[in-house]
Amino acid sequence: MAEDGTSDARDVTLEVVLRPVTAADLDRFEAEFAGPEGPGPYQWFGHTPAQRPRQLLAERGLLGGDENMLSVTVGDTLVGRVEWFRRAWGRADTSSCWEIAIGLFTAHRGRGIGTRAQRQLVDYLFAHTRVERVQVCTDAENIAEQRAVEKAGFTFEGRIRRAQWRAGAWHDQLIYSVLRTP
Ligand SMILES: CC(C)(COP(=O)(O)OP(=O)(O)OC[C@H]1O[C@@H](n2cnc3c(N)ncnc32)[C@H](O)[C@@H]1OP(=O)(O)O)[C@@H](O)C(=O)NCCC(=O)NCCS
Repeated sequence: MAEDGTSDARDVTLEVVLRPVTAADLDRFEAEFAGPEGPGPYQWFGHTPAQRPRQLLAERGLLGGDENMLSVTVGDTLVGRVEWFRRAWGRADTSSCWEIAIGLFTAHRGRGIGTRAQRQLVDYLFAHTRVERVQVCTDAENIAEQRAVEKAGFTFEGRIRRAQWRAGAWHDQLIYSVLRTP
């Protein structure tokens, strides 16, 4: 692997680590995901305010709440972020689960990092929180994320029709989950 953390071939030995977000990481996320190219074709929703993650970082390190984030690293290289959000199926006090999300920098996609990072996040959430279910939703055309979550152990559950407004049109979403006790 090169010193900048990039590699031409899929590196089965690469060590993906999730760690707490720093203010410098947020600077980088803002720069990388500022326009349509950075987030990729399925994650650009127009410009969003940068204040909220800064505020949550200052208040609680972007951890321990209903909106959370960890940085994804390979070696010492920051390659992206994972997030998790509380979702309720009925009453939030008894029936909430986590919904995860991921964004890798363009230079680090297609190397197996997304698969590993999402599996690690699932393991982390089952180890440190009490939820029974971790879910993820992705665009019906986002083949890379569909493959990544399947390889990370998620099971396809269904298609949510015309759920997401993006790029001037409605888009179907696919929902997947991992259960604590399969
Ligand atoms: C989606 C994303 C997290 C996947 O992570 P990744 O590290 O790039 O994916 P992986 O290397 O783990 O590969 C996953 C699988 O998808 C395949 N894949 C990767 N990019 C692909 C593409 N553009 N088209 C088709 N398949 C693709 C890989 O070949 C691999 O499958 P295989 O093992 O059968 O060959 C990453 O590409 C990303 O951050 N994309 C932009 C943001 C995004 O879409 N986030 C998800 C929102 S729900």
